[in-house]
Amino acid sequence: MSLSRLTVTAVRNLHAVTLSPSPRINILFGANGSGKTSVLEAIHLLGLARSFRSVRLQPVIQHETSACTVFGQVELGGGARSQLGVTRERQGDFQIRIDGRNVRSAAELAETLPLQLINPDSFRLLEGAPKLRRQFLDWGVFHVEPRFLSAWVRLQKALRQRNSWLRHGTLDGASQAAWDRELCLASDEIDAYRREYIQALKPVFEQTLRELLELEGLTLSYYRGWDKEKPLSDVLAASLLRDQQLGHTQAGPQRADLRLRLAHHNAAEILSRGQQKLVVCALRIAQGHLVSQAKRGQCIYLVDDLPSELDEHHRRALCRLLDELNCQVFITCVDHDLLKEGWRDETPVSMFHVEHGRITPHPVHQE
Ligand SMILES: Nc1ncnc2c1ncn2[C@@H]1O[C@H](COP(=O)(O)OP(=O)(O)OP(=O)(O)O)[C@@H](O)[C@H]1O
Ligand SMILES: [Mg+2]
Repeated sequence: MSLSRLTVTAVRNLHAVTLSPSPRINILFGANGSGKTSVLEAIHLLGLARSFRSVRLQPVIQHETSACTVFGQVELGGGARSQLGVTRERQGDFQIRIDGRNVRSAAELAETLPLQLINPDSFRLLEGAPKLRRQFLDWGVFHVEPRFLSAWVRLQKALRQRNSWLRHGTLDGASQAAWDRELCLASDEIDAYRREYIQALKPVFEQTLRELLELEGLTLSYYRGWDKEKPLSDVLAASLLRDQQLGHTQAGPQRADLRLRLAHHNAAEILSRGQQKLVVCALRIAQGHLVSQAKRGQCIYLVDDLPSELDEHHRRALCRLLDELNCQVFITCVDHDLLKEGWRDETPVSMFHVEHGRITPHPVHQE
């Protein structure tokens, strides 16, 4: 899968533009503040209906304009294609369209346009809150296991019900027991999907990491969110009083985490910035491999400021791995000389110069 056309209107400082990206490597280069990250942000908006830079979408809309729009044509493989459009009005109205239909849920967009983002904030995947790692994990499970989404929706509903009961106690015991059974069933299902996914991810991650970094002894493990020896129903029963005091459910898949450890320490506390970036890249590239193997096809990589924090050796190793993924990749950098070389001869590489919000194609092999 790849974006064969991208039209961006009124996103940040970008002038209205239509691009025909390469199905493989796309390099956006230009000075600080020229609009490179904004292009990635526009693609992110198209795939997830949200930004990765700000929680709200208001700041993404160009000053003095009433709405921003991103339109994309996605090649799905075998000649099939899909047209996606996302519009966000300053007043707050949101419109998502897939092949002419209005769509309410961003999950449908995510299914059509699976994105992997690697940016200077990515190290937060290691040192940030467990929620970030759960999102990472669930992104992968969502794309390889079609039954995951409905189990996840069931879990959220049962959990909301239980938390409300813990706080207000409005439901009778028998009805709440039925909700608890539903909660445990959905939890076991989600745990099984996540566990299976991690089992598949681990060897691919380890192999990818070996190709990027000499780092012995880094381990990736999965914590399911409650004692692995006990059924969730027992854990919930044992912690009922405390849950009531706190007003929410402490144990369950909503507390799952991924643990990356090195020599008995949390990896984030030991690794250098560059090493952290490479570990996150290895995780995201490993995910890309698993999604490519699954029926739904490949994902698209957005790599913001690829060269930062990497020496030449590691930069080349990362480019080689991105090249071998056979996915579409959008890379930003300030100095394009750093990324001009090193791609396989058969890999189509396109370059775009971004200057004060204007994007122009740039020849790759001649200056
Ligand atoms: N809502 C907006 N409307 C117009 N311009 C905006 C808006 N939000 C941000 N900008 C400007 O748009 C530009 C966006 O820059 P962006 O972050 O995409 O640059 P960049 O090329 O990635 O730079 P760097 O190399 O520093 O990362 C900045 O100059 C910023 O001041
Ligand atoms: Mg930037």
